[in-house]
Amino acid sequence: MSCVPCRTFWPVCGCQKLTSGEKSMFKALYVEKTESGQQVVTLRDLAETDLPEGDVTIRVQWSSLNYKDALALTGKGPIIRNWPMVPGIDLAGRVEASTHPAVSVGQDVLVTGHGMGETRWGGFAQLARVPGLWVVAQPSELDGRQAMALGTAGFTAMLCVQALQREGVEPSSGPVLVTGASGGVGSVAIMLLSRLGYQVVAVTGRLEEQPYLHSLGAAEVLPRAHFAAPSRPLEKARWAGAVDVVGGQVLASVCAGMRPQGVVTACGLAGGMDFPATVAPFILRGVTLVGIDSVQCPRAERVAAWARLAELINPRQLDDMVHEIDLAEAPQAAEMLLAGHVRGRLVVRIP
Ligand SMILES: NC(=O)c1ccc[n+]([C@@H]2O[C@H](COP(=O)([O-])OP(=O)(O)OC[C@H]3O[C@@H](n4cnc5c(N)ncnc54)[C@H](OP(=O)(O)O)[C@@H]3O)[C@@H](O)[C@H]2O)c1
Repeated sequence: MSCVPCRTFWPVCGCQKLTSGEKSMFKALYVEKTESGQQVVTLRDLAETDLPEGDVTIRVQWSSLNYKDALALTGKGPIIRNWPMVPGIDLAGRVEASTHPAVSVGQDVLVTGHGMGETRWGGFAQLARVPGLWVVAQPSELDGRQAMALGTAGFTAMLCVQALQREGVEPSSGPVLVTGASGGVGSVAIMLLSRLGYQVVAVTGRLEEQPYLHSLGAAEVLPRAHFAAPSRPLEKARWAGAVDVVGGQVLASVCAGMRPQGVVTACGLAGGMDFPATVAPFILRGVTLVGIDSVQCPRAERVAAWARLAELINPRQLDDMVHEIDLAEAPQAAEMLLAGHVRGRLVVRIP
């Protein structure tokens, strides 16, 4: 008799629950479209045989709710491109079966991006199956909950910070701006930059979150309104670096206020997809605009960024920015996140 997931003689395999012919079921959030085109989200039982192809099967323990997940769950953005979908762009859990040489059964791992929750079933489920090349070993400094407290948002913040460093922005270069500061990417970016000795200026639409932003390490907090009105092609040169999650007019205003040789990392569109800027900051101040894509980030860079993130993180600050929810609460939490009512990160507890 052999175990279905790991194809090892049972009970030697250690899974100790699946025998051939026995249908294993798991709980998942399931998003489908009705005949009239309406999107419906249910928590339901699926069979393991429904999982996509892949060489690693993971017992998911934690996931997280990112901006992109919120768009997917609410249908407010065209995130899901294959139907039906198990959303969730992040997951952390334990490997239950693997035919990939670099991934072992029993290993604690995380997976983010790669189209999970968009084109491929993702982390809002008790079980997930993915290609082994997507799997990253959980850094020893982090448990699964902390890995998902960071999740794609924290990983993206790390990529932004590494891009600023690569482009030569140092703590002595001048202040670094972080927009969408109370959100997931913004909160982690503030924590990382401050830990590295940068003078961080947080931009927020929620001035009532000032104490929180200072607790993460922001030296100064500015209202979003300062950046929301159309700017001149060049404003007073103030910022040496910037992490922008907002896009739209805010990104254009940030670029206009950069110092000569300043560097802006653009990773988000919480305020809009457009970019109503001029070329002035780029051709008259030598400003660099760096695009950040966490989804298709190459594997070596991905592993290195997670390792650095684990080194730099302050567990107490990380814990302060996290709110934990159950899988069944994710659709409602998604509405709250898009309405701008979530501070920091939402970690999803998988039953
Ligand atoms: N490129 C990538 O690989 C990548 C990876 C992760 C995330 N992202 C993108 O980055 C953005 C932020 O993600 P997140 O996970 O940090 O989301 P989040 O937790 O919802 O944070 C977004 C923050 O942006 C601000 N904001 C919200 N609506 C806004 C509006 N209409 N105008 C201006 N500011 C607004 C809010 O901060 P305040 O209240 O403090 O102003 C909010 O907390 C999203 O667009 C997401 O898709 C991209």
